[in-house]
Amino acid sequence: MKILITGCAGFIGFNLAKALLEKNNFVLGIDNYDNYYSIKLKKKRVSALKKFKNFKFLKIDITNELLLKKSLAKKKIDIIFHFAAQAGVRYSLINPQKYIKSNLIGFCNLVESIKNIKLKKFIYASSSSVYGESRKFPLSENQLIKPKNIYGITKKFNEELAENYSNLYNINMIGLRFFTIFGEWGRPDMFVTKFLTSSFKKKPFYLNNRGNHVRDFTYIKDLIQILLKLQKVNLRKKHEILNVCSGKPINITRTIKHYSKKIYKPKIIMRSLQKADIIKTHGNNSKLKKSVGNFSFTKFEIALDNTLTWYKKNKIEKIV
Ligand SMILES: NC(=O)c1ccc[n+]([C@@H]2O[C@H](COP(=O)([O-])OP(=O)(O)OC[C@H]3O[C@@H](n4cnc5c(N)ncnc54)[C@H](O)[C@@H]3O)[C@@H](O)[C@H]2O)c1
Repeated sequence: MKILITGCAGFIGFNLAKALLEKNNFVLGIDNYDNYYSIKLKKKRVSALKKFKNFKFLKIDITNELLLKKSLAKKKIDIIFHFAAQAGVRYSLINPQKYIKSNLIGFCNLVESIKNIKLKKFIYASSSSVYGESRKFPLSENQLIKPKNIYGITKKFNEELAENYSNLYNINMIGLRFFTIFGEWGRPDMFVTKFLTSSFKKKPFYLNNRGNHVRDFTYIKDLIQILLKLQKVNLRKKHEILNVCSGKPINITRTIKHYSKKIYKPKIIMRSLQKADIIKTHGNNSKLKKSVGNFSFTKFEIALDNTLTWYKKNKIEKIV
């Protein structure tokens, strides 16, 4: 199986590429080594992938339509996992143009480049951010979506564009609304990794909205098992949207409480609610479970412990 992963130097793309390579698939990975967070961390991920003989890396910016088209021509790709995007909600207030470029123009360039290829599946990352500040929980795929920030708006547009391309060009597509993925090789701008970095660097930790945030934390290893299953299943519709979440809302301070028993507790500085932030996410994962078969999610504290072990082993505070 020949699989294209965009954003393979990123958190999710890297973890999936590694899992697929371990199963002897051929993986073509592309990434532009964007500087949103540590390029050193991204390069470390890619050098781990380069140890597999079935891995090929192309440094490409998906906003470069001509280069993308040229590079993908005649590659005989079976499945695409599209993860390359400008991620993060807060940064969308600082640099909205980057979201428009990578998430809208980049997405459009990619679907344009592959619309005439005989693909088995095109699986792309959407986000729980499309729901916005909903009051109806758990969040279900069929409810009205009203994103609160530009990041969420770009993901909503991706879903609409995918629906259109899937119909026009008969492509099997799956849009995945990821809910706060965390774990090994996690993003330094996200809560769990950020807290570990504050602890190991002995620097203050800023707790937004005084810690009154609830997240449907989803462990990366569970997500990877789900992605491996999704690559094989045939879904009912040509284009499906699925929540990918453990379905268990957790107050973010539970992470701090758990880690404070094990590692240095950094000084906590309380902050007010940040403008782009959502207070609560809690997804309904019954459609996901119907699609991939019943699935048991890793216990939160076990996943936190695994993440801590990875962080210490790789001395991540020296890289990020
Ligand atoms: N991690 C989460 O909790 C989460 C939640 C919801 C949605 N998502 C989505 O999942 C996908 C992967 O997220 P992640 O956490 O791995 O993020 P990440 O930032 O670690 O990975 C994204 C990768 O895409 C690359 N990239 C960015 N712009 C690019 C461009 N124009 N051309 C080529 N490469 C580009 C970056 O260099 C990066 O390596 C993203 O689409 C993100 O929006 C993630």
